[in-house]
Amino acid sequence: MDNITLIGFMGTGKTETAKMLAVQTNRKYISVDDAIEKKEAQSISDIFQDKGEPYFRKIEKETIREISSHDGQVIDAGGGAVLDEENMKNLSSCGLVVCLWAEPEEIYERVKKDTHRPLLKADDPLRKIKDLLEKRRPFYKKASIHIDTTGMRVKSVAKKIKEILDDKTNV
Ligand code: S3P
Repeated sequence: MDNITLIGFMGTGKTETAKMLAVQTNRKYISVDDAIEKKEAQSISDIFQDKGEPYFRKIEKETIREISSHDGQVIDAGGGAVLDEENMKNLSSCGLVVCLWAEPEEIYERVKKDTHRPLLKADDPLRKIKDLLEKRRPFYKKASIHIDTTGMRVKSVAKKIKEILDDKTNV
């Protein structure tokens, strides 16, 4: 299968990059979070609040399992999808997995005005970003391709992924 999945912490540019890449590579853009919201008829924030994170992770896992069974997509996975081994197995087996990275200070600048990320609703969001990034670093490291998007425009990130993809196709 020839999907491309973007993983990485919140605010690393997965959504914008995935949308651009989908157009450029003639694939369908699929957001795991959007699919969860549709399935549950509730926003991610409300799911976290009403049913808790473990419930969200369970639905996230089911949704990734379903999405991974289809082809021709650019999959925009939520920042915590990497924490589950089965998610990574499913995503890796259906195509290329690319991990986007960014420095915590830049992530903070990118997400500080957003209100839809329950995990960043904290008294000190930058501290929370740093803590979560450190905890998750070993999981993000599991991806075979990494791109540090700090200081990069979406266009350049998409271009870089496209080049990697073209190189792989030409082998
Ligand atoms: C999460 C990231 C979010 C969303 C949920 C949990 C995480 O997705 O899935 O709020 O655990 O990092 P984005 O990375 O698209 O913001």
